[in-house]
Amino acid sequence: MSSSPLRAITMQAGWHSLLRRGGGIMRDSASLMWTSTRVGTTHVRARQMALSAAPALCGNVLKRHIHASPSVTPDLNRPRTELASASQGHNALKIRWRGGEPDEFPYVWLRDNCLCSDCFHRSASSRLLRVADLSMNVRPREVQVSDDGDFLKVVWENGHESTYEADWLNERAFNTRQQSVYNNTYRLRPELWDSNMSQRIPRASFDELMEDDAAVLKLLENMEVLGFTVVSGARQEEGELQRLSERVSYLVASNYGTTFIVKDKRDASNVAYTSHGLDLHCDLVCLHYKPCVQLLHCITQFSGDGGDSILADSHRVAVQMKELYPQKFRFLTDILVNFRDVGIDEGFQFDIIARRPMISVRPDGEIKTVNMSTFGRDSHFGVSPEEAVSWYDAYLTFCDLLYRPENYITFKLEAGDILIMDNLRLLHGRTAYKDTAEGERRLEGGFWDWDMMRSRRRGLQMKLAGSS
Ligand code: OGA
Ligand code: ZN
Ligand code: ZN
Repeated sequence: MSSSPLRAITMQAGWHSLLRRGGGIMRDSASLMWTSTRVGTTHVRARQMALSAAPALCGNVLKRHIHASPSVTPDLNRPRTELASASQGHNALKIRWRGGEPDEFPYVWLRDNCLCSDCFHRSASSRLLRVADLSMNVRPREVQVSDDGDFLKVVWENGHESTYEADWLNERAFNTRQQSVYNNTYRLRPELWDSNMSQRIPRASFDELMEDDAAVLKLLENMEVLGFTVVSGARQEEGELQRLSERVSYLVASNYGTTFIVKDKRDASNVAYTSHGLDLHCDLVCLHYKPCVQLLHCITQFSGDGGDSILADSHRVAVQMKELYPQKFRFLTDILVNFRDVGIDEGFQFDIIARRPMISVRPDGEIKTVNMSTFGRDSHFGVSPEEAVSWYDAYLTFCDLLYRPENYITFKLEAGDILIMDNLRLLHGRTAYKDTAEGERRLEGGFWDWDMMRSRRRGLQMKLAGSS
């Protein structure tokens, strides 16, 4: 992957230069004026200080002290933020902005996030400050706000100096508005869907993806929000997943290789490699790093009745389960199930086991993933017979919900289509088919990783916002 998009992100001029005022942070500060507050005053009224009273703050010192760290917001044109004053509280600095509600910044956080070259490595975008140099008792000796409202300087009790840019601080403010901006950068909010999705299946064009960054960004956004996309127009040959991956994300290998061929095989190593119908499932639940996202490139399709794809949003069904059957929901989140894959594929022998609940939930209560595979679930079950019965009862209740017509969609991939789906959220299945003398059904499969995909999404948001 020499032309990897991921490498391109890190090799770009860098996050730093993409900051709104990028190099502008280091503008000539000889004329900066500072407003200062001192320790000891409870609610210190900002006091004008002449530059001569703040001798440490010549332009070069600023350059040494301020190192941009990555902006979390891709909106490069948002209005600039200006500081009005800073006053010292018990364990936090209270910042007033010119316009807007005040915010509090804990001293320990401010010290931890000093951006001077001793505390922060600019090209690595990483903290250098060692834990031994951080204390809960850290307090400012002096606090100054520049008269233009662009910078805050803190002189700590031990004489160490930290300077923060107003925008940088504002982006990190301890309030829900700013924190929700970061939350959006972290993950786009999923929109759970039902069978109405069959009217608005998200689609993309292979050729556009190869050329247009905006198309790649749209694909990645759809993947996070809706959980799948059908890409059309790939060539009817192997290798298209590799080409697409060079534009979007790395292929992640599994016990079936980096990519694999799904067709009716003699002595199949996986039920997917037969012409049987497949229950709704996610792939490779046996792996603790269950693949995040699955790709299936339809090279040739079965022309008769069959070989259709089925998709369901398991997170929506899990939410329904929690509301309708809270006790049964808990069995599925608490009882551990063994998922196992034993076999040999292209000479590689494997015996892989992962033990996990069928539904796993994030600390904030959101559904993390549904682990479901009729053929990947082991017959060994390390619970009492009573618990096993309770689990099956809950599992079959979940399946009843899942297979309600309003909870899934069916469609048929055409040759040249690539189905991309979130393997942590969507369940997929297929109807049975039978190869005929006219030809075989043949798909190439592979996996991507959410970390790399989100990384690519953030990089493209930043790049495209910068070019608009
Ligand atoms: C798979 C799979 C579906 C299909 O290979 O994991 O579910 O349509 N295939 O063949
Ligand atoms: Zn420092
Ligand atoms: Zn599958």
